[in-house]
Amino acid sequence: MTHVFHRDQRKAYPVAVRGEGCYLIDSHGKRYLDAAAGAAVSCLGHSDDEVIAAIEAQLRRLPYAVTSFFTNQPAEELADLLASDAPEGLDRVWFALDGSEAVESALKLARQWAIETGQPQRRRIVSRRQSYHGNTLGALAAGGNAFRRAPYEPLLVPMHHVSPCYAYREQMADESEQAYGERLARELETEIERLGGATVLAFIAETVAGATLGSACPVPGYFRRVREICNRHGVLLILDEVMCGLGRTGHLHACIAEDVVPDLLCLAKGLGAGYQPMGAVLVRRRVWEPVTQGSGAFQHGHTFMGHAAACAGALAVQRAIRSRSLVQAVRERGKSLEERLRTRFGAHPHVGDIRGRGLLWTLELVRERATKEPFAPDATLHARVKAEAMLRGLTCYPMPGCADGRRGDHVLLAPPYVISEPQLDELVDKLAPAIDAAIVQALTVERSGMDAE
Ligand SMILES: Cc1ncc(COP(=O)(O)O)c(C=O)c1O
Repeated sequence: MTHVFHRDQRKAYPVAVRGEGCYLIDSHGKRYLDAAAGAAVSCLGHSDDEVIAAIEAQLRRLPYAVTSFFTNQPAEELADLLASDAPEGLDRVWFALDGSEAVESALKLARQWAIETGQPQRRRIVSRRQSYHGNTLGALAAGGNAFRRAPYEPLLVPMHHVSPCYAYREQMADESEQAYGERLARELETEIERLGGATVLAFIAETVAGATLGSACPVPGYFRRVREICNRHGVLLILDEVMCGLGRTGHLHACIAEDVVPDLLCLAKGLGAGYQPMGAVLVRRRVWEPVTQGSGAFQHGHTFMGHAAACAGALAVQRAIRSRSLVQAVRERGKSLEERLRTRFGAHPHVGDIRGRGLLWTLELVRERATKEPFAPDATLHARVKAEAMLRGLTCYPMPGCADGRRGDHVLLAPPYVISEPQLDELVDKLAPAIDAAIVQALTVERSGMDAE
């Protein structure tokens, strides 16, 4: 019997004992090609000697010194590096330990900014349906995924949700991408005006969607209009690039491709690449300066923030991404992955949409391509794909609920930036039969449900 409170209490998990490049190896010696990099985390793979050596060396010098008394060298150097090539003005770095903490910090810092700038009435936060910003209460409240929110709804602070940018299901047949983006932007502005523009604090969005909407990309111009609207109403723009940031979409920051600079930029996953838990918020001068000149301190903080060994690991990861030209590698490998996915699944009767950018790709699975009808949630197609893929030695990231928060299944792929061309072949060769087997099972479950009715 295990004493670990596992995520799924009824499941027996394989024990991961070793990492080797893009592979995870379990206690029976079985190898899994890690096509999800954990959860879009392990961008350098699992055995990068330089990163491991940097962490070891830091542990010998100084593992940890609490940030309410000290700063430390790796934290300073990591912040210097992140500020040096961030979009203009994002030049202060608030450290956190993960994505949820980064989002919580951004939300609270936004509120403190309002107070420091004499706008205490600004308290409302707008986000998007189907979004995911983390599982802590504030981040969950910002998130718009009905399934994840449901049990905790009574504990969540009220937030306001507008439509996501989800062209596959929500762009109308006779609507151009530009018109679709404009419609979404108008919806945001209408919501801000309905709430009373001067009471709205921030709009938070994933630049490229992650876990709950499966790498849905913004249509061109959408975020530029969002930025204009936020500016017009004095609302802060928080971009959550916890999953899509730091090279994952083929740009160092996903917002670079959208030609917008947020006021707060949340980062995590690829920051420490799984070698250490790490998160951060890049903060624009117009947000941090009023704090510096006002009360002087952000009224927030966590015991392990700016952890010296974690920062040393993240610093080595970030140096590797830059010195090994891995953002360029993501673009190249991303094209190869896209080609393979389109070749293998482009005409698949149950793959409704293939979408993504860089090395963040999604297959949205549907019962019928023509109607885009999802599988019944009770058929648990996503879980079946995950299990069938693992049987074949592949980890991918299937999730439920993309269509409307409850219905819809998608498979997210986010392999390490160092994945090779033969490994991309292996990925699709394992994924295709896993999906087919899962679909056969899901159709059988659906049919037996119908027979029982
Ligand atoms: C966009 C986004 N924001 C926030 C989070 C939460 O990050 P964490 O699980 O590290 O708390 C995630 C995690 O998947 C995410 O994808």
